[in-house]
Amino acid sequence: MSNPIITIAIDGYSSSGKSTMAKVLAKKIGYRYIDSGAMYRAVTLYAMRNGMVSTDHVVDCNALRAALPNIKIDFNVCEDGQHTMLNNEDVEKEIRQLDVSNNVSQVAVIPAIRHALVAMQQAFGIEKGIVMDGRDIGTTVFPNAELKIFVNASAETRAMRRHKELLEKGQQTTYEEVLANVMTRDHIDETREESPLRCAEDAIVLDNSTMTINEQDAWLIDRFNETIAKHK
Ligand code: DC
Repeated sequence: MSNPIITIAIDGYSSSGKSTMAKVLAKKIGYRYIDSGAMYRAVTLYAMRNGMVSTDHVVDCNALRAALPNIKIDFNVCEDGQHTMLNNEDVEKEIRQLDVSNNVSQVAVIPAIRHALVAMQQAFGIEKGIVMDGRDIGTTVFPNAELKIFVNASAETRAMRRHKELLEKGQQTTYEEVLANVMTRDHIDETREESPLRCAEDAIVLDNSTMTINEQDAWLIDRFNETIAKHK
């Protein structure tokens, strides 16, 4: 009997390593991977480019809501992985910059933006066979996902990993700056009214603070195999 095709939701705090593990799993099992955070980042970049975000991170919600029909987000599979496309422009690099990170939570609290992006995410997953990571995938986007994972690690561990990543990409920031960004985003993500970051009741929790990447990949493939066996 062939394996059932399932939906996999991976949620967790920013820089918890969930995207890394989601990408590896998707590749290994031949599923499509969607980074839902990249979609919020792309909308944020659009807002910043079009003068809808002030220097003190206040977003013009009405203008952004009105602009929604002009924002098209997609993903292109490239040799070095998946690239986020904003209105057919490759913005993969730009959406990872700290200035976008500093505004994205403010954009992600806007209900109209969340509704539009959740609908797009559900459309990506209509045929299952998808691994999606984010904050509300197991709770709001795919509440019926067969496998739900919630990833956590301490704020300090996450900031350290993110800082290293940014330095490797040639972006000059301090550890303190990154830690402040991680903590601010945690707070906004956890306390927003519309789909706050929270663990779905039926999610499996993983604290990967002391795990290597290989260990967490192996852990995830075990959870996948268990789920597949259960649904056969
Ligand atoms: O995973 P990330 O750091 O790239 O996500 C960027 C921001 O988008 C994060 O601060 C919270 C928000 N986000 C969200 O609200 N819901 C999602 N499903 C994914 C991300």
